[in-house]
Amino acid sequence: MVISCDRPAFLAALLDALAAAKEAEVTQFSDALEQIDLTAEKRPRKPLLIHPAMDHLEALVDQAWDPRFAAAAKDLDWSQVYSGGGIDPTLSEGMLSAQFAGTYGRHPSMSVATGLFLLAPGVHYPLHTHDASEIYLCVSGRLQLCHGIDGAPFDIREGELSLTPSGRAHSLTTYSEPVLLAYVWVGDLMASTWWWEQDETEGWMRSSWKRIPGEPWKKTGTEPLSESQIREASV
Ligand SMILES: [Fe+2]
Repeated sequence: MVISCDRPAFLAALLDALAAAKEAEVTQFSDALEQIDLTAEKRPRKPLLIHPAMDHLEALVDQAWDPRFAAAAKDLDWSQVYSGGGIDPTLSEGMLSAQFAGTYGRHPSMSVATGLFLLAPGVHYPLHTHDASEIYLCVSGRLQLCHGIDGAPFDIREGELSLTPSGRAHSLTTYSEPVLLAYVWVGDLMASTWWWEQDETEGWMRSSWKRIPGEPWKKTGTEPLSESQIREASV
């Protein structure tokens, strides 16, 4: 792989990490990252976000395993990911993202979204699915992930990544420390993200969240999950 010397540091760091992973499945992500049109007009910078979760950023930046991600964390525009929908404020206010490229990030792209994701301590991002295939690369801290309703939890630490195929249910949980991740999404960036939860009879339901670029995701409806949907999302 040829890394252009004028490639932004964030993108170069991410491509280096994917190349080091030596997993065939990461190729679709690195190929998509290579296709980002860096010559397109960049979106303007936003004012610095004033938000409780931003208090974690300095320590996470100090611990970043690759300084190129630390620089991106200080440069990109942070925003809250979810709001409303009756979710616990610990959760909604505990997740921030800073998009390098994508539907609202610094570099416009409708085919790949990538950037940084900050999770506060004690956050459980419940089982959810989305059309996009997803990579999380741990930049600072330690994150627990779980795939499917019966999956075994596993951790990723600095320099380690996880890959979630399109449509697979997965959850994220932080411990007593915050976590900084780099993420890559490849697929339909405008499709709903579906959050899974059990009702009072322990039947599984899913709620649709839609995003208008530049605004937090908003809840748009809830429907039951069938056995086959649960099976297909747990493979
Ligand atoms: Fe996800």
